Amino acid sequence: MKTYSSIFAPRAAKVFQGDREPIMSNQEDRLKTLIGHAKEYGFVFPSSEIYDGLSATYDYGPYGAELKNNIRQYWWAAMTKLNENIVGIDAAIFMHPTTWKASGHVDAFNDPLIDNKDSKKRYRADVLLEEHMAKYADKIEKEVEKGRKKFGEAFDEAQFRATNPNVKRSQERIDAVEGRMKAALEANDLEAVRQLIIDEEIKCPVSGTANWTEVRQFNLMFATELGSVSGESSTIYLRPETAQGIFVNFLNVQKSARMKIPFGIAQTGKAFRNEIVARQFIFRMREFEQMEMQFFVKPGTEMDWYNRWKDQRMKWHRALGLPVESYRFHDHIKLAHYANAACDIEFRFPMGFKELEGIHSRTDFDLANHEKHSGRKLTYFDPEANESYVPYVVETSIGLDRMFLAILSAAYDEEKLEGGEERVVLRIPAPLAPVKVAVMPLVKKDGLPEKARAIIDGLKLSHNCQYDEKDSIGKRYRRQDAIGTPYCITVDYDTMKDDTVTIRERDSMQQERVAIADLDRIVSDKVDLRSLLKQL
Ligand code: GAP
Repeated sequence: MKTYSSIFAPRAAKVFQGDREPIMSNQEDRLKTLIGHAKEYGFVFPSSEIYDGLSATYDYGPYGAELKNNIRQYWWAAMTKLNENIVGIDAAIFMHPTTWKASGHVDAFNDPLIDNKDSKKRYRADVLLEEHMAKYADKIEKEVEKGRKKFGEAFDEAQFRATNPNVKRSQERIDAVEGRMKAALEANDLEAVRQLIIDEEIKCPVSGTANWTEVRQFNLMFATELGSVSGESSTIYLRPETAQGIFVNFLNVQKSARMKIPFGIAQTGKAFRNEIVARQFIFRMREFEQMEMQFFVKPGTEMDWYNRWKDQRMKWHRALGLPVESYRFHDHIKLAHYANAACDIEFRFPMGFKELEGIHSRTDFDLANHEKHSGRKLTYFDPEANESYVPYVVETSIGLDRMFLAILSAAYDEEKLEGGEERVVLRIPAPLAPVKVAVMPLVKKDGLPEKARAIIDGLKLSHNCQYDEKDSIGKRYRRQDAIGTPYCITVDYDTMKDDTVTIRERDSMQQERVAIADLDRIVSDKVDLRSLLKQL
């Protein structure tokens, strides 16, 4: 049996570089605040909460569903509208069981697990080791910080890292653990993984003991039975990635949509993984949504396309205007055997820099294996080169829920206002905001509510609008700030005379008097998805 790390680039243990972000001291608080806000304001609820919830499963509420739809739409339009050589599909979640044999998931989509006999808690063995190495990395960062303070302007960080005995000692520990971990995982030597945990005296954070079970491989796919079919083939799986629905449809799409290589197939949809360590809110769930695009290219051109897609995907993120320093590329140092290049786009979540999206050059691994297992040819005849070949694939794969969390965490702000008042505002990129405009009559009488509703009637075909007449205008503004509504429009007595309203912008809180006739244009300029797409 192969180790999980030798088969799946995405789940390959990250080779530890010691360049991790120092763990934010208030990370748990920040995440807790976000979770609380997301629940209170109808973005994300724990699943089946009345039964105390189901771990690592979440439901999206009214504003969450809108935000999620808007992110999905932005991705879909960027892929399929802006690229005439990319088309979309919507494949079934259930697939023929042999699909997962061919893709390697049945045999090797595994995580190495270890249990603590005292606490009965279960861990991913590689994660225990990575967290152990992270402690040494933290020590290094603290030492570097001390050096910076001590030497001031004259501080030479590179030289300090290369010569300081404490830093060198910690780096040697990291290198030693990393070397043994990599060798053990590559050889699928689970006893060696356990021995490393014992040698490093890694203890269970709950019981504080090192009373560990053996390490076992655990397959992450959810299996179920298909109704009437008997025998081995009755076991089917909930797809652990959407990509395979694209691979098996490669020729159907190529022929029906008359696609010529290079071309891409895009898909969004649910994926399921029986994650062992599923925590950190919607970052790692057992049921989640992916947005994947497989780009089919002529063998030999894949590195060029890989680099182009890296650029293109980063551009997509940057257009949103979240802080540039919140993104970074992380190259996979140890590649899966089928990949000839792979990297992650990492985002600075409240828990530190973590994978948001993967970009992988997957060679012809998937198509060639599906050919072998299905007995069907999956070759493409290239009319220009006058030859047939199995295309290579460059994949971009992003978790929709992770993108949601990235946006929510970057958007959340607690702001002190003049006069000592505070507000919580979600600075969600305007085109993705769940509600675009709130229309508020100053009072609930004298025809103002009717006027407000008439304004909504004029806007609602283009924008998601909300009517709000309850409480003071200040309180209504706060409610809209908390769900990230870019514009609030107030209808007052002057409106009844001259058809003008006050429009208030979320981030600056500036207010302007404008004609009702101009509202659609003003709002559209800012909230239309086109404002993002034209940057790509
Ligand atoms: N087809 C390639 C693939 O599935 P992956 O790195 O395993 O690669 C791609 O997954 C993306 O899916 C990740 O970058 C992440 O955003 C998202 N993802 C993976 N597992 C997830 C989980 N358990 N919960 C939420 N999102 C997840």
